[in-house]
Amino acid sequence: MSLVDIDAKIPNNVDLAGDRRLQRALEQWQPKFIRWWEELGPAAFQGNSVYLRTAVGVGQEGWANFGYVSMPEYRWGVFLADPEPARTIAFGDHKGQDVWQEVPGEYRADLRRLLVVQGDTEPASVEQQRQLGLTAPSLYDMRNLFQVNVEEGRHLWAMVYLLQRYFGRDGRDEADAMLERHSGDADNPRILGAFNEPTPDWLSFFMFTYFTDRDGKYQLASLRESAFDPLSRTCDFMLKEEAHHMFVGASGVGRVVQRTAELMREHDTDDVHPYGGINLDVLQKYVNFHFSVSLDLFGAETSTNAANYFAAGLKGRFQEERRDDDHQLKNDLRDVPECTAEGITTRRVTQLAALNETLREDYVEDCQKGVDRWNRTLADAGIDTVIRLPHVGFHRQVGTFRDHHLSPDGRLVADDEWLDGAGRWLPTDADRDHVRSLMQPVTEPGKMAGWVAPPSRGIHQKPVDYEYVRI
Ligand SMILES: [Fe+2]
Ligand SMILES: [Fe+2]
Repeated sequence: MSLVDIDAKIPNNVDLAGDRRLQRALEQWQPKFIRWWEELGPAAFQGNSVYLRTAVGVGQEGWANFGYVSMPEYRWGVFLADPEPARTIAFGDHKGQDVWQEVPGEYRADLRRLLVVQGDTEPASVEQQRQLGLTAPSLYDMRNLFQVNVEEGRHLWAMVYLLQRYFGRDGRDEADAMLERHSGDADNPRILGAFNEPTPDWLSFFMFTYFTDRDGKYQLASLRESAFDPLSRTCDFMLKEEAHHMFVGASGVGRVVQRTAELMREHDTDDVHPYGGINLDVLQKYVNFHFSVSLDLFGAETSTNAANYFAAGLKGRFQEERRDDDHQLKNDLRDVPECTAEGITTRRVTQLAALNETLREDYVEDCQKGVDRWNRTLADAGIDTVIRLPHVGFHRQVGTFRDHHLSPDGRLVADDEWLDGAGRWLPTDADRDHVRSLMQPVTEPGKMAGWVAPPSRGIHQKPVDYEYVRI
């Protein structure tokens, strides 16, 4: 069990006090992080007390402490899950060898890139969500938003620790650059497309935490398999926090569905806009948008980089060890989709080449579970409309579908049909305006905006009407 130094300037269980150089470097980065948080973190309520969970250790019970804290005073720390004794590499060319405690020279550039790309997404989402506190549908939701925000901040700390500890000056430069790129910045944007899209309203936020944070879950789960043990242990702990972000998304969309169903029944109509609700066809368009931009995050169907990362042992598959194959994948084959002007076919490649597609498929399967739950809510209310994930080729900017237009049900469509259909398939300006018009802040404990149902229970066994943020 690694010792937790919770009273240190930077709480940690990595014995920072025993590495003065590193400690000094991180303490120099700390005020830059705080400045970034104050400038580009939540746009309001920075001085208010929020009922937040703070990681103070990685043990079964001890990692989540709840209490009131104002966000700039949140104790962002560096926590690695406890090491797994005698852990060996589970896949790739070094399968069966001991895991690494230092970065092998030949993999330095690749590992650094993996850390930077993952790390960049964390502050990006905080920037994307910075205005949302102003229109929270309840104090409960506002608190959940801020919880997600501070934890994404901690995830940045997690990656910055690895960069500074294992990559020297390069790592320090990368840590600074994380605070210099900004979401949506024309000159210096965040690295990945979905993290430059604005999150302008709470429906987008719930969709983002459901679909885009879930990409994070799959990336982290693949990096948890890494032969580079400190990265594996870091991701293992990040995934604990990430589970709450998934919950915020799944339950958030679920509560919108529930509220819409109630309004539909109450007023016996599909059009609940006059009653302050969000119509199911608008919800479906938001699903189409957020699912498709999140699919792009997995990259092209086949990838030499992903194959190299796997062969090197840097990044595995989701639940690598539970898979029943040789974990090297050079001879196993699979089909990946291929889209041409003639239609959608498949192409047979090695499993090693197709790792992005394999991870994307695992992700899609996971996404479907929440959709099934939302549909059960609709069915229980006697509504026969069904929410569907669009075809994986719909509205894609990356990979084989990139240069083709597909309808949500997976038909290749010509440009004019696409232009015609886009307004039915993706949120229009009018849809977004309507959703935004509903975003009136509700800051009285226990009260809920009219477009979303209350949650079934509160946070940390507190009641739903608890004063989660002291206004
Ligand atoms: Fe994160
Ligand atoms: Fe997250």
